[in-house]
Amino acid sequence: MINRKYPSTRLRRLRQSKTIRDLVAENTVSSNDLIEPMFLVNSKSDAGPVNSMPGVERFEKDQLFREIEESIKHGIKAFAIFPVVPSDLKDESGSYALSADNFLINFLREFSERYPDVISIADVALDPYTSHGHDGILANDIVINDETNELLGKQAVLLADAGATIVAPSDMMDGRIGVIRSALDANKNKDTIILSYAAKFASSFYGPFRDAVGSKTNLAGASKKTYQMDVRNSDEALHEVAIDVDEGADIVMIKPGMPYLDIISKVKEKFQMPTFAYQVSGEYSMLSKAISQGLLDKSVMLESIVSFKRAGSDAVLTYAAKQIAKEIKDE
Ligand code: PBG
Repeated sequence: MINRKYPSTRLRRLRQSKTIRDLVAENTVSSNDLIEPMFLVNSKSDAGPVNSMPGVERFEKDQLFREIEESIKHGIKAFAIFPVVPSDLKDESGSYALSADNFLINFLREFSERYPDVISIADVALDPYTSHGHDGILANDIVINDETNELLGKQAVLLADAGATIVAPSDMMDGRIGVIRSALDANKNKDTIILSYAAKFASSFYGPFRDAVGSKTNLAGASKKTYQMDVRNSDEALHEVAIDVDEGADIVMIKPGMPYLDIISKVKEKFQMPTFAYQVSGEYSMLSKAISQGLLDKSVMLESIVSFKRAGSDAVLTYAAKQIAKEIKDE
C-alpha cells in the first residue's frame, strides 16, 4: 500500500532539484521522437516564407537539402516532404501526382541516395495536385471513394519506387490502406512502411497548411467533411484505427494533435500500435505567434510536445522539430 498521508508523504521531496526531477520523470522528448514536415517547391521563384506559419518556408530542392542537412546535425532523422504544386500543373484528377518524374518523386529519389539512413515520409493524397483542392477525384462534386483508391495505390507505388521510406495516406478514403498495401506488395515494395493518417478529423486547424500548399484557394470554401472525421466523435476514431490496422497499417496517426490528446490516449491504450500524432499547422502557428508577440514563453513548444508523449504518442510531426531538437541539446 502506498502511504498517501501527509506529513510522511511529501511529494515535493522529489521535486527539489532538477537532477531528482529528471531521475523520476515519466516522459521525455528526444530528437528520436521528432519528425519535421517540410514544403518543397519546383523553382526558386516559388520559394519563400509561409505567411501564416512564422518561421516556416517553402524551399526549392537545393535549399531544402541544406535545411535537411542542418536538421540532421541537430539529431532529426525523419522528414515529411510536402510538394507545393504550381497551379498550371493542377487538374481535376490530380494527374501530376502520377507523373513518374514529378518534382517530388525526383526529390525523394535524390534524398534516398544522399541519406540512405534518414527516413523520408511522403503523403498519399491528391489534394496538392487537384484543381479543386480535394484529396480525391470528383463525380458530381462528391469525392468518389473506390476510384480514388485506385489512384492512391498507384501514387504510393511511385513514391515507394522513388525511395520514400514511409508512405502516409492522408486522404481518409475507406479501404485505402488495403488497396495501397496490395499495390505496394505487387510491385516489390513489401518493405515500404505505411503510416496511416487513421483518425484524421475535418479540422479548421489545417488552415495555414492549405495556405502553404495553395489548396485553400482551390478549395474555395469547400469542406472535407464527407471524408475526414467529424470532430465530435471518438468511438469512430477507434473504429477507423481498427480498420486500418486490419488492412495493414504499420503505424497509425492521430491528427490534429493537441485538441485530440484524448484520442491519442485511447488509441494507444486500445491497440498498442506504434502511434504518431501530428501537431498541425494551426497549432504550430498559434503557439509561435503567441511566443513571438511575447504572450507566452518559448518553452510552451516543448511542453506541447511532452503532452503528446504523455498521451501515448511515440513520435510527433511538428514544424517546431528543429527548434525543439536544438533546445533539448542545449539543456
Ligand atoms: C493533405 C494534408 C493536410 C495536412 C497534411 N496532409 C491538409 C488537409 O487535409 O487539408 C495538414 C497538415 C497541417 O495542417 O499541418 N491531405
